Amino acid sequence: MTLDELKDQIKTIQLQFETETSAEGLRTKYLGKKGLFNLLAKSIGKVDLDSRVKAGQQLNFLKAYLNNKITQKERQVQANLPWLDFTLPGLKPKVGHVHPISQAMAEITGIFERIGFTRVRYPEVDWDWYVFESLNMPPNHPARDEWETFFVDTPVDQKKGKLVLTTHTSNGQVREMERLGSQPPIRMINIARCYRRQQDATHTQMFHQFEGLVVDKGINIQHLKGTLDYFAQEFYGPGTKSRIRPFHFQFTEPSFEVDFSCHICGGTGQVDGNKCKFCKSGWHEVGGAGMVHPNVLKAGGIDPEVYTGFAFGWGVERTYTLKEGLNIDDIRLLYSGDLRFLEQF
Ligand code: DAH
Repeated sequence: MTLDELKDQIKTIQLQFETETSAEGLRTKYLGKKGLFNLLAKSIGKVDLDSRVKAGQQLNFLKAYLNNKITQKERQVQANLPWLDFTLPGLKPKVGHVHPISQAMAEITGIFERIGFTRVRYPEVDWDWYVFESLNMPPNHPARDEWETFFVDTPVDQKKGKLVLTTHTSNGQVREMERLGSQPPIRMINIARCYRRQQDATHTQMFHQFEGLVVDKGINIQHLKGTLDYFAQEFYGPGTKSRIRPFHFQFTEPSFEVDFSCHICGGTGQVDGNKCKFCKSGWHEVGGAGMVHPNVLKAGGIDPEVYTGFAFGWGVERTYTLKEGLNIDDIRLLYSGDLRFLEQF
């Protein structure tokens, strides 16, 4: 017998198998001692000597083919589901991933750790003293109105006042000074949840801020500006610039609002001769900053005659959603738990 003749016979057996409608008896019929396969296999002795290896391979393929197909049919019978195709790839279990805001926090932490900051976290339910009073906002100071505060209905502490849900991460400033025994240098990055009575497309009642604090001898505005430029380039990409504008906060003097240049129009405010739709002005405001007020250093037991510092505080969501290509126009989506949205990040 020639190799081609053997191949023809193999084809015939396969075709015959394809027309089988019942699963029963197939194993004996095809693979049993006196089955069709063995019958054919015997004829290998008749194949020309130099084609015998190839003939052996062909027979092995046939055996594997029959075995697979028969097993499949038997399983279908067992499961009583004749339509079930066990050769189909399975459904992969869903694998979760880190929430986009947690990703952003990890990235922000990494950027500041590379220049010597230490990531800390302080209570999200904290005393009025840390949230307001130690930050140069005595009780009844009108500046407190800026923060739409949730108060906790618990007894008032004689020294530290009421408990509040932290309205900003600035509560970490005096806490960090205390943690270090009022001994600079301080290079803190505090990232935590904050809470305010607000809710719309750009505000959620719970959000995150990250707060930087640097205190040492001889710290000045240039250190602040250098840090802002460094962050802008690392987080938004090369070429991004930072800008500071005079503002007012009780806990810094002087105080600034911080802007980053828009990546869509490169800070020009114009796209093809039209106003840039993303920023409208070439810049995006992200948050506040300034030189730490002497009263804040004093509240943390640090002598403002010897040490100076800078601080900044921005929303994580706001800072993150300005990233190139994100295009999130309603930050409430981030906390909707909607996997169709979250899976994209
Ligand atoms: N805590 C301010 C806020 O939530 C932001 C801020 C402004 C933080 C200036 C600072 C700062 O550290 O120096 O609006």
